[in-house]
Amino acid sequence: MQLDPLGDWKRSDYLEHLGKADLGRQVTLMGWVHSRRDHGGVIFVDLRDHTGMAQVVFGPQHNQASFERAQELRSEYVVAIKGEVVARSTDQVNLKMKTGEIEVFVKELKLLNGCTALPFQIGDLQESITEKNRLKNRTLDLRRPQMQHNLILRSKAAHVMRNYLHEHGFFEFETPILTRSTPEGARDYLVPSRVNPGHFYALPQSPQLFKQLLMVAGYDRYYQIAKCFRDEDLRGNRQPEFTQIDLEFAFVAPDDVMTLVEGMVAELFEKTLAVKVELPIRRMLYADAMAKYGSDAPDLRYGLELTDLTELSKNCGFQVFSQAAQSEGGLVKVMCVPGGADFSRKDLDDLTEFVKIYRAKGLAWVKLTPEGWQSPITKFFNPEEIAEINQRTGAKVGDLLLFGADKKQVVNDALGNLRKEVARRRKLAEDGRFVFCWVTDFPLFEATEDGGFHSCHHPFTMPVMEDMETAKHPTDIRSIAYDLVLNGVELGGGSIRIHRPDIQKRVFQMLKITDEEAREKFGFLLDALDQGAPPHAGLALGFDRLMMFLTGAESIREVIAFPKTQQASCLLTEAPGKVDPAQLKELNLALRKTQS
Ligand code: AMO
Ligand code: AMP
Repeated sequence: MQLDPLGDWKRSDYLEHLGKADLGRQVTLMGWVHSRRDHGGVIFVDLRDHTGMAQVVFGPQHNQASFERAQELRSEYVVAIKGEVVARSTDQVNLKMKTGEIEVFVKELKLLNGCTALPFQIGDLQESITEKNRLKNRTLDLRRPQMQHNLILRSKAAHVMRNYLHEHGFFEFETPILTRSTPEGARDYLVPSRVNPGHFYALPQSPQLFKQLLMVAGYDRYYQIAKCFRDEDLRGNRQPEFTQIDLEFAFVAPDDVMTLVEGMVAELFEKTLAVKVELPIRRMLYADAMAKYGSDAPDLRYGLELTDLTELSKNCGFQVFSQAAQSEGGLVKVMCVPGGADFSRKDLDDLTEFVKIYRAKGLAWVKLTPEGWQSPITKFFNPEEIAEINQRTGAKVGDLLLFGADKKQVVNDALGNLRKEVARRRKLAEDGRFVFCWVTDFPLFEATEDGGFHSCHHPFTMPVMEDMETAKHPTDIRSIAYDLVLNGVELGGGSIRIHRPDIQKRVFQMLKITDEEAREKFGFLLDALDQGAPPHAGLALGFDRLMMFLTGAESIREVIAFPKTQQASCLLTEAPGKVDPAQLKELNLALRKTQS
C-alpha cells in the first residue's frame, strides 16, 4: 500500500462542525474511514473524528485519480481529503446524522495510514464484544464514539470544576505520590525504596494529610484532581486507582463546605447535561438515614421507607421477632411495598435468598388482602398488633410487608439493600432523575468484627466534643462529617478536621494507637497542629463515580481511559508484571515461593 505524507496540508475543519453554513467552501478534512459504500460510479465514505462524522464522496466527475484510489480504502484507514462542501439533494438528506444535510465532493485524497483486520468494529457496542476483549484492545475501544463521548465529557467536567474552584479562591496544588501511608481504611500499595533498603513508600489512599498541612501552611483554599490508590476488594464502582476532586478550606464551618460543593455540582450538571439541580440539597442526619432507609447512602428517588417495630415486637407471639427485640442491640423493622401483594411465591423466595447475602436469617412477609393479613406469621399477631403495624406502615390492601429481625447492623444492611433490590425489580428509579442528599453527623467510630472499632471516615475527623464527654460507648460519639449522596451512591465525603493536637492525641488513644506509634506515623501532623493550625475542613468527591452519572455509564470502567479489571490488572499493558531478578536484587528484595 502506497502511503502519502501529510506534507503541508492543514486541517480546515473538524468533521461534525460542518453544516449548511459551509456550502461552497473548499475544505481540508482528516480522519478515519468509518464505513465505505461502493455504488459503482460513486464511492461514499463516512469519515470520522472525535467530533463525529461527515460523508465524503468520491466520483470520477470530481476527480478521477482520487476516485480510483478510494477503491483501496477500508475501515479505519487514516485519510486526508480536500474537497468542496455541497448540499445533499432533499431525498439524500440523512436526519440521523448531524452533518446529514451536506456532503463533501473529494478533489484530492491522501492515504496517511492503513489498518490491519480489527478484533471488533469501531461502532456501537455489540453484545458479542466481551469486556475482556475491549480492555485488551483498549486503544481501539477508546476510538468508539461512546467512549470518546465519555472521556471528552470527563475532560469538560474537570474544566468546569477547575473554573468554578478558581473563581471561588481555590489554589491547585499537587501532593506526592511516593509518600507514607494515609489511613482511609484500605490496604496500601507499597513501593520499595532502592536507596533506603528495607524501607517502603506507600501510594496515597488520598491526599488527606498533605491538604491539611497546606491549610496549616496558610494557603486557605486547596484543590486537586488527585489520583488515589487503595488495595481493596474491587466490588462494583471501585477501582484500585481512582480520582478525587479533593478540596480543603481553612476557617470554615460544615455549611460553608456543603454550600460551595453543591454550587459546584449544580454548575457541573447544568453545564454538561443542562440539568438543573435544586439547591440547597436536602440534608439528613445519619441516624435518620439509617432508621428510614437502612443505609448511609439512601436512594431517595422512591419511598419504600422502613418502620421500626422493635418496641411493639417485644411481647409479640412470633419468637423470631420477640427474641431479636429483647436482645441487646437487636432490631425489628418492616418495609411496606405499595402494590407488592402481587409478588409471587418465587419472588418472595428469591428475596429471602437475597437478604441472606447480608446475613439475614430469613424474610418474614405479609400480603394485605381484602380478607386481612395473608402470611405464614399471621397466627402470631393479635388484631391490635396487626392494626398497629398496618397503621404505622401505612399499608393498604394490595401492599406487601417485608420484615427483618436481628442485630441492628444485619437488619439495616439486609433491609437497606432489599429496598434497592425491590426498587430495581419494580423499576421505581428509572426516570432519569438525579436526587441528591447530604448525610451528616456520622458516628466517629464504627464497630469491627473483632469487637474493636475504627474510624468511620478517617482518624482526623473532628468529634462532636460534648459526645466525647457523655457517650457511654465510643460508637455513640458523633463526628462532624458529611457525605454527598446521589441516587443511592456515595459521591463524596468530608469533615471538619481536628486542628488541635490535644484532641488528635485523644482520638489516637481511643483508636488504641500508642503515643509512640502516633509519633512514628503522624509526628509531622502532630507537630503541624502544634504550630498554629487554623480550624479547617474539606471534602473529596469521587470523580469517576460522578462521571458515571454524567455519562449514564453502568460501570466505572466506562469513564476511565485505562481501567483495571476486578483482579486489579490492566489487560492492555498486562500490569502487574514480573520483574527482572536484577531489579529485585537492586531493591534488596527476595521473592518467597508462593503456594499455588
Ligand atoms: P473517601 O474515602 O470517602 O474520603 O473518598 C471520597 C470519595 O472517593 C470515592 N472513592 C472511590 N472511587 C472509586 N474507587 C474507589 N476505590 C474509591 N474509594 C473512594 C467515593 C468517595 O466518596 N480524604 C477523604 C476525603 C476528605 O475527608 O476530605 C477521603 O478520601 O466517591
Ligand atoms: P420460620 O418460623 O422459621 O418458618 O419463619 C417464618 C418466617 O419468618 C419465614 O418467612 C422466614 O423467612 C422468616 N424469618 C425467619 N427468621 C427471620 C428473621 N431473623 N428476620 C425476618 N424474618 C425471618
